[in-house]
This record gives sequence, structure tokens and C-alpha cells, in this order.
Amino acid sequence: MTVTLALFSAPVIAEETAAKELELGVKTYKDFCAHCHGPKMVNPGTSSYDLRKWPTDNKDGFYSAVLKGKGDMPAWGDILLENEIDALWRYVATRGGKEPLAETGDGGDGS
Ligand code: HEC
Repeated sequence: MTVTLALFSAPVIAEETAAKELELGVKTYKDFCAHCHGPKMVNPGTSSYDLRKWPTDNKDGFYSAVLKGKGDMPAWGDILLENEIDALWRYVATRGGKEPLAETGDGGDGS
């Protein structure tokens, strides 16, 4: 992984950071979520939830389900770091990488 820091103007840094976060989200998803939720969030047809359908405006609900668990899903609050969960949210909000990187918070259009 190449690390590029500080040489860019602020918007570029924001985009770089977002891209890095997405990368971490993909990795964390593969390591911790994919065996139940399916590769690239494509639900394998088991009882787990198809994460591509998760409403992108329900960030709080996502954090709550991931931190505390839900139904047959274990809680992740003691396992994952906060930045890993942020990264997972970033990944989920792209619908498994199909939609443009969502800018969460600072009002950028993410183009
Ligand atoms: C052991 C299998 C398993 C793993 C691993 C797993 N999940 Fe789940 N997940 C489930 C099941 C089963 C459900 C459906 C729970 C229900 O609604 O009863 C679910 C539901 C969810 C939901 C929807 C909760 C809701 O409110 O309906 C989210 C969000 C979610 N999982 C995220 C994740 C994330 C992120 C990871 C990786 C950190 C993950 N899951 C790993 C089995 C798993």
C-alpha cells in the first residue's frame, strides 16, 4: 500500500483518506463479515442480511447492529476497532463498491 501524505490540497487529501478508508473497509469486511454476508456483500442465500440493501441514511442503525449484534449475528464491539467500523460503513455505503464513494459528513459530492 502506498502512503501519500501532505503534498496535496485539502480536497485531494479528503479523497485520498476516503479511498484508504474504503480499502480498509473492504479488507475488514473480507476478514470478518464475508463468510456470513457473502463476498462483495452478495448474500449467499443464507439467513444473513443482504448488506447491499442497507439504507445508506441509516448509519446509526448500522453501528448499533454491528456493535451490539443482531439476532444470529454476534456483536463486534469488542472485536473491531472504531476506525474499522467506520471503514466498514464507508464500504457498505458504496453498496459493495458499486456506487461512488460516499462522502460522510463534510458535504463534498465525492466525485
Ligand atoms: C456469523 C455470521 C455473521 C457474521 C460473521 C456477520 N454477520 Fe451480520 N448478520 C448475520 C445475520 C444472521 C444477520 C441477520 C440478523 C437478524 O436480523 O436476525 C445479520 C445482520 C446484519 C445487519 C443488519 C442488522 C439489522 O438491523 O437488520 C448488519 C448491518 C450486519 N449484519 C453487518 C455485519 C457486519 C458489518 C459484519 C462484519 C463485521 C457482519 N455483519 C458479520 C450474520 C453474520
